[in-house]
Amino acid sequence: MDVLTLDNVSKDFGGLHALRDVTCGIPEGTITSLIGPNGAGKSTLTSLICGIHKTSHGRILLRGKAIQGLPAHVIKRLGVARTFQIVQLFSNMTVLENVQIGAHVKYGDGWLGALPRPGAADHREKEIADRCMELLRFLDIDSYADSMPSDLSFGHQRTVELARALVAEPEVLIMDEPCSGLAPGEVEHQLRIIDELRGRGVTILFIEHNMSVVMEISDKIIVLNYGQKIAEGSPQEIMDNPQVIEAYLGEEMKHASR
Ligand SMILES: Nc1ncnc2c1ncn2[C@@H]1O[C@H](COP(=O)(O)OP(=O)(O)O)[C@@H](O)[C@H]1O
Ligand SMILES: [Mg+2]
Repeated sequence: MDVLTLDNVSKDFGGLHALRDVTCGIPEGTITSLIGPNGAGKSTLTSLICGIHKTSHGRILLRGKAIQGLPAHVIKRLGVARTFQIVQLFSNMTVLENVQIGAHVKYGDGWLGALPRPGAADHREKEIADRCMELLRFLDIDSYADSMPSDLSFGHQRTVELARALVAEPEVLIMDEPCSGLAPGEVEHQLRIIDELRGRGVTILFIEHNMSVVMEISDKIIVLNYGQKIAEGSPQEIMDNPQVIEAYLGEEMKHASR
């Protein structure tokens, strides 16, 4: 069953057609990769799903219910979380505090709820902090809980961002180029985590340029080119698709052989 369905989704930025009539499904419990050249519309598609941008046309369904047009914080609360292509952490907060911010989404308080409050909230704050520490341990970054993000390697900063997305226990996790800028060892670590999350039942929409990574980890691949879906299928089907080779894989292979 598809957890997320895009039904004829289009997005225009002024005169620019960033996405045109994209229809596709993200099956439950899978890693589904979204690939395509720069400017193909991958990040735009994630922003539409998360409610950062509004669709120009079409519908986005989460478990059959339309979510397009809903505010971003409501979509988060419905169980869709994301990490960004460019890491976005609060530089004046510790690692643990950055992750705790994500927990308040789950409890439905929105951003204001993350401010310290007296009295009754104390117990809950403690509970949230414990859960966040547990998550940091799972991701192997618990020793950095009290560090500032700028003291961490870039790879660890990405992991903190992931922790913040995960603390709300999302049903769907959208990861926009989570391996970009990582050293090879860090990529391995990141992929192991993604694989482990799938094992725990999280549905993952994964944007990635490295084709060997995509082919290895994906259950399904969706290919965008100039805002249009040109293919959708298993890694093998995508590798063998002449249109995909023409639009994207051919280029990637040329780069790879340089
Ligand atoms: N906020 C925006 N305003 C105007 N144009 C945008 C905006 N975001 C993306 N675009 C344009 O939409 C197209 C798709 O961009 P994007 O979704 O970032 O592609 P990708 O992530 O596949 O590289 C590009 O031509 C880009 O310049
Ligand atoms: Mg992008």
